[in-house]
Amino acid sequence: MFFFLPELPKSQVHNNYLQRQFPTVIILGVKKAGTRALLEALQMHPKVVGAPNEVYFFNGFHTRGLEWYRQKMPLSSPDQITIEKSPTYFTSVENTQVVHRMFVFSRSTRKPLKLLVVVRDPAKRCLSEYTDLLARSRKNEIPAVHETFESFVLNKNGSVNADSPLVKTGLYIKHLTEWLEYFPPDELHFVSGEGLVKNPYKEIKAVETFLGLETFFTKMNFKFVRQKAFPCFVPDVSDAGKSFCLPPNKGRQHVQVQTRTLRLLREFYQPFNKQFYAKVRRNFNWP
Ligand code: A3P
Repeated sequence: MFFFLPELPKSQVHNNYLQRQFPTVIILGVKKAGTRALLEALQMHPKVVGAPNEVYFFNGFHTRGLEWYRQKMPLSSPDQITIEKSPTYFTSVENTQVVHRMFVFSRSTRKPLKLLVVVRDPAKRCLSEYTDLLARSRKNEIPAVHETFESFVLNKNGSVNADSPLVKTGLYIKHLTEWLEYFPPDELHFVSGEGLVKNPYKEIKAVETFLGLETFFTKMNFKFVRQKAFPCFVPDVSDAGKSFCLPPNKGRQHVQVQTRTLRLLREFYQPFNKQFYAKVRRNFNWP
């Protein structure tokens, strides 16, 4: 038996000392790499609460002011930390300003800010975003998408279109360079999107350490549910029946595209991926 995301943040079960606190952890991205899975997994920890919605304060709503931002945060007790995720922060086109704004914010809060970024094979990430665009277009959430995957990511001459927003998102090293202009490397932690699916315990345990959280996570917090074909979450290991999975729009079957296009994308990304591995000192082994 499993159900989807719990409706009430667990902080609401406490009655005392609840307030909205600024985030001390921000998930910067990357879109379609596993950001929702990361936030939901972390929220199983009793000392973590997450903003219910993506806020896009630093790259969208910053003119509304910090109090507006704080009001978007969930209620929490003083011993809990608040996390928000806005998956386009990391790759935002006006990155320099976004990074600067977040840096100023981070130096004005009492607790140091820690930044998390989930990264995934950039070619697969492109395909995931395209699949998502088609699904949202079918539901009329966005204007109809008629273009093929190829026309989104390739130029007319068949080469990879490095100016395509879908393609640019996966140039992780370029975005990271902007962030490192302001933030020291030890304030950023990279999570493997593939790892979140194959071995979520290992990835989340590394985040637990990076955030300096009390030891909580065990392998029992994650269980593979066959109908979902992805890991689901068990917040209370003494009651494994009460697990929850991410909704159906996470972990979709990708649309079929030409194998040649994926190969071209992978060749295109390879040198950037290598530079990225070297910079973050982790080999993600993307094909
Ligand atoms: P796909 O739908 O392409 O498989 P985001 O939350 O950033 O939009 O990322 C969505 C991706 O999270 C999914 O992409 C899926 O691969 C990945 N993911 C990682 N862990 C997951 C989990 N436990 N359940 C569902 N999807 C998960």
